[in-house]
Amino acid sequence: MQASRHAAPASLPIGSDADLAWVRQQVRQAAAELGFGLVQQTKLVTAASELARNTLVHGGGGHVMITPLDTGQSHGLRLAFVDAGPGIRDLDQAMTDGYTSGGGLGLGMSGAKRLVHEFDVESRPGEGTTVTVTAWATAVPPSRPGV
Ligand SMILES: Nc1ncnc2c1ncn2[C@@H]1O[C@H](COP(=O)(O)OP(=O)(O)O)[C@@H](O)[C@H]1O
Ligand SMILES: [Mg+2]
Repeated sequence: MQASRHAAPASLPIGSDADLAWVRQQVRQAAAELGFGLVQQTKLVTAASELARNTLVHGGGGHVMITPLDTGQSHGLRLAFVDAGPGIRDLDQAMTDGYTSGGGLGLGMSGAKRLVHEFDVESRPGEGTTVTVTAWATAVPPSRPGV
């Protein structure tokens, strides 16, 4: 039997520090399998680490959906961090360098955005937060990124 070339979408729980370590490892492995270079891998793993920690600390836990993308020309990885926590009331504030609602350095969200090609936040107070990031194996994203 021939194994498929790339992993299927996967959902990983985010409920503990051990889960964070596993998420980091799985993101790096998926990116490596898709042909990301070491620098691109490290950028995505760093972003994923910050966003997964936010899901745990601020969102009260949740999960990450890891989806491989293939445009035919380029390979990418989409990560959606999902929680059903308190949500983010002021997104502009949350994205500001140095803003923390408490305890952190306030560089996770803004830093993660700079490390990926696409960054999207959907959040409703009282319902939860989903942060979706996409990175491509090439430094320049493909012309048809909406796959
Ligand atoms: N998943 C989330 N749920 C609720 N609030 C969040 C979430 N992610 C980020 N935030 C809010 O955005 C702020 C900025 O996040 P970040 O830049 O990672 O800083 P830090 O985690 O160091 O506080 C957090 O302090 C928090 O108020
Ligand atoms: Mg943070």
